[in-house]
Amino acid sequence: MYTTLLTEKNNGIFIITVNRPDKMNALNKEVFNDLDKAMDEVKNDESIKSVVITGAGAKAFVAGADIAEFSTFTKEEAIALSKRGQQVFFKIENSQKPVIAAVNGFALGGGCELAMACHFRICSDNARFGQPEVNLGLIPGYGGTQRLTQLIGKGKSMELNMTGQMIDATEALRLGLVNHVTAADELMNKAIEMLTLIQSKAPVAVGKIITCVNIAVMGDSAFTNGTSGFEKEAEAFGECFETEDMKEGTQAFLEKRKAAFKGK
Ligand code: COA
Repeated sequence: MYTTLLTEKNNGIFIITVNRPDKMNALNKEVFNDLDKAMDEVKNDESIKSVVITGAGAKAFVAGADIAEFSTFTKEEAIALSKRGQQVFFKIENSQKPVIAAVNGFALGGGCELAMACHFRICSDNARFGQPEVNLGLIPGYGGTQRLTQLIGKGKSMELNMTGQMIDATEALRLGLVNHVTAADELMNKAIEMLTLIQSKAPVAVGKIITCVNIAVMGDSAFTNGTSGFEKEAEAFGECFETEDMKEGTQAFLEKRKAAFKGK
């Protein structure tokens, strides 16, 4: 049913595993299509009560958008890519059934953004988080400028977005980016334990908590998919594609060398 996801149901818990381990589970078009469909399955299948999203393999949750896929995009194609990613992530964020991210390694760029679109996050002690788009001459395009700011505050969001530096699990816990840190082999048990507890509560009430907490940070635009901040992010992401620095940054990554930016 899905080409890039593995799914399983376990006592009402739907486990979605992004499954491109040879590409660090990077998010390409197919992954977005599959995640979109998977969230429809979550909504329509009454036997699904809650969701965990994780990544295949021991190394990465998701290492970002697929750089090879978008490196030659025009501004318009890039804006469309950003809006598509934002749309799928809003679907996760607005799910009336709880969705948690079990971050089992690198959660970079679109991977950090995917984790942040979930209702909350737990991670293994080897997890690493970051928005390294700036290293590519880019900005986050799937809500990273917005949700990182909502979750950890303006100053730290500015720092992580502008430096592109990664933080470890301990720092992510300290900043409130994740709620719990476990040993790698305990991560899924912890996710299941937490969702089993939540599943014992009244589902209608849980759904209404999700809606109301989303409104607390997003205002009424929680219902209309985003604020002007998200729209501005998509546009600004697209504008970066008109720069030489973005071409240099993505080429440098693909050629496994350091980028030399010129400010053009
Ligand atoms: N898009 C496309 N391919 C990616 C990718 C991404 N975001 N992240 C990793 N890959 C690919 C690599 O190109 C490599 O492919 P190859 O074996 O065909 O050369 C493979 O996954 C393994 O990655 P590699 O970089 O060799 O592993 P590493 O252990 O040295 O480094 C990371 C791991 C996650 C630190 C590094 O891959 C990385 O920095 N990825 C990009 C992160 C990023 O900038 N994300 C934001 C994108 S907008």
